[in-house]
Amino acid sequence: MKFFLDTANLEELKKGAAWGVVDGVTTNPSLLAKEGVTPHEQIHRITEIVDGPISAEVVATDFEGMLREGRENAAIHRNIVVKCPLTRAGIQACSKLSQEGIRVNVTLCFSPGQAILAAKAGAWCVSPFIGRLDDLGLEGIQVIRDICRIYANYGFKTQVLAASLRSPLHVVQAAEAGAHIGTMPFKVLDQLFNHPLTDKGLDQFLKDYSKAFQEAPAGR
Ligand code: G3P
Repeated sequence: MKFFLDTANLEELKKGAAWGVVDGVTTNPSLLAKEGVTPHEQIHRITEIVDGPISAEVVATDFEGMLREGRENAAIHRNIVVKCPLTRAGIQACSKLSQEGIRVNVTLCFSPGQAILAAKAGAWCVSPFIGRLDDLGLEGIQVIRDICRIYANYGFKTQVLAASLRSPLHVVQAAEAGAHIGTMPFKVLDQLFNHPLTDKGLDQFLKDYSKAFQEAPAGR
């Protein structure tokens, strides 16, 4: 499963990219609104940090507006993936942009039926939101399982990008379900590292080493 960071914050992206495990980035209007520079400028800065697919969402809600913004976003950098919402106009724009060779991430997907529409429109990926379904008392991860099975049944090329992942468990469940990509906030990526037995084990190894060799290991 590819790991994308779900953030528009440059410091978080730099830290994540330095670990060598970040394959791409997803942004949305809410995330970009926190950063204090124009979305176009921020997306451009992100392309200088992560060399992988970077989702930039349209904010127009009509077909013509989405096409115009989608083409403008795609022109920022070769790594841009245009994000369109799963509305009638969004699916129409996805279809047209995809025909033009622009990769589209269809976002705000909450059901397998919606995901079939995205695949039929030639989306590069579809983004089902797991956490927001869980918020309603539904089992978000089941939607990932269903979409992966349906796409495999018909050989759809559209990738499943599990979004709205709120915990390390969500990441693991998305991977088990067969999601091609998981996008997560920096905090969740950071949490994936943590295990008390790793800390305890490393501490013991270093104590044993110091005791035997009467010296601190390099870098300590
Ligand atoms: O970027 C879309 C999605 O990942 C948002 O997550 O936590 O706001 O539901 P969340």
